[in-house]
Amino acid sequence: MRNIIISTFLFLFVLTGCSTRQQQYRIGVSQCLDDAWRQKMNEEMERELLLHPEMSISRRIAYGNSERQCAQIDSFIEERVDLLIVSPNVAEEVKPAVTRAYRAGIPVIVADRRVTGDEWTAFIGGDNYRVGQLMADWLLSVQTSKILPLQVLEVTGLPGSTPATLRHKGMMDRIADSGGIKPQLESVIGSWYKEDAYHIVRDYLRLHKHVNVIVAQNDLMAIGAADAVRDSKGYGPGSVRIMGVDGIMLGLQAIVDGTIDCSATYPSRGDLIIETAARILSEEPFTRDSVLETMLIDASVANPMLAQYRARMHDFETLHIVQLRSDMRWQQMKNSRLVLVLAIVFVFLLFLVALGFLIYSQRKINKEITRDILPQLEEVQEAIQLSHRDVAFGERMKQIVDDHLTDPNLNVEFLGSALQLSRTQIFRRVKTITGKGPLEYIRERRLLHADELLRTTDMTVQQVALELCFSNPGYFTKCYKEHFGHLPSKR
Ligand code: FRU
Repeated sequence: MRNIIISTFLFLFVLTGCSTRQQQYRIGVSQCLDDAWRQKMNEEMERELLLHPEMSISRRIAYGNSERQCAQIDSFIEERVDLLIVSPNVAEEVKPAVTRAYRAGIPVIVADRRVTGDEWTAFIGGDNYRVGQLMADWLLSVQTSKILPLQVLEVTGLPGSTPATLRHKGMMDRIADSGGIKPQLESVIGSWYKEDAYHIVRDYLRLHKHVNVIVAQNDLMAIGAADAVRDSKGYGPGSVRIMGVDGIMLGLQAIVDGTIDCSATYPSRGDLIIETAARILSEEPFTRDSVLETMLIDASVANPMLAQYRARMHDFETLHIVQLRSDMRWQQMKNSRLVLVLAIVFVFLLFLVALGFLIYSQRKINKEITRDILPQLEEVQEAIQLSHRDVAFGERMKQIVDDHLTDPNLNVEFLGSALQLSRTQIFRRVKTITGKGPLEYIRERRLLHADELLRTTDMTVQQVALELCFSNPGYFTKCYKEHFGHLPSKR
């Protein structure tokens, strides 16, 4: 019984054990913002995750607030995520939380915006300094074609954030290094947002009527700036050349539409981030510092790039549908497995109940048998024992009687003392065993022997009657006839 229970539980354990997918790694993703570029990064991560069912991500967004981002990272530390991906708002402000996670033994991938020091596991991000150089190269190329010295307006991202600082530095260094006329350049802060850029550029253009180039540190701000130019008096269509950064779909579309002139790719590579995470978690070798290349996108490449993006998006949607379907199937399979387990548990319980009932009724029957039959059994046993004793007694009695058939002293008293029984006892025992009284029994034995003597010897009836102690031959003859149904002389 114990074996049955143990095997059933083992079987159920294996069955339910099979229904869990591979080991799940929980990855915390801390995003500083939730704009189009980051949504692209998130989508790339999601796509790559399709290849890694062992990992799941939980994403938190700080909406441009470093303090909030630190708190979110701390909550990931508390939850003991298996790995942390951080794209810091202002790197130095978020660095303490990154360090805390790293020191807590959580592998940290810093994405996009680098933090100083080396308390992180891997870095994956674009080359912001190089982006700045590309911006400078482009605006200097505009200057050459326009001959006139340029009045450049730079729209920067959030001050203090790595890309804003490095892009500006890369641009300024490149301009400084270039010979020839230095463009006039002023900066305004757009904080990475289209709306902020729109308002700040509009205000600027109201006061400055000769701006002919705007370099915005991302595509969204470039589009915002283009809208501001369109809405500003004194600025006709095409009077201001505009460059963005990122090469997101909106930016590419704006280039194709002629809203802005160009952009620079700033790869987000969410796929590489997830692949690196998988490598770190499975302790495979990975590249610690991946700096992603950047390049200029102008009208000549924007269209094919846009087509490529759309195709990729379509692929992703298809993949997503496939995954949803497979998830559904997986769920169905899990459900039917659960039903199976429940059915087995139910049948098993039913079996246990039936077994219990069987054991209970068996015990009850046993008890009844013991109660009802045992006394009868004891009686039978007693009877058997008694009859055994009777047979032995009968044998002894027969022997004594047969040994004294010719002895005139053989009577009830004689038999009683030979068998050590009282007169009453001898009567009862002889009656029980032979169904006759003792005298009748003695007489019957004498008659049988008499018959034998008559048949086997030449003795006369009188002689035999005398020999066997009958008081007279007449009495013998009477008794003989009664017993055998014929006269002794007739033999
Ligand atoms: C998005 C963004 C991008 C920019 C990147 C730099 O949040 O502002 O537009 O290229 O961050 O980290």
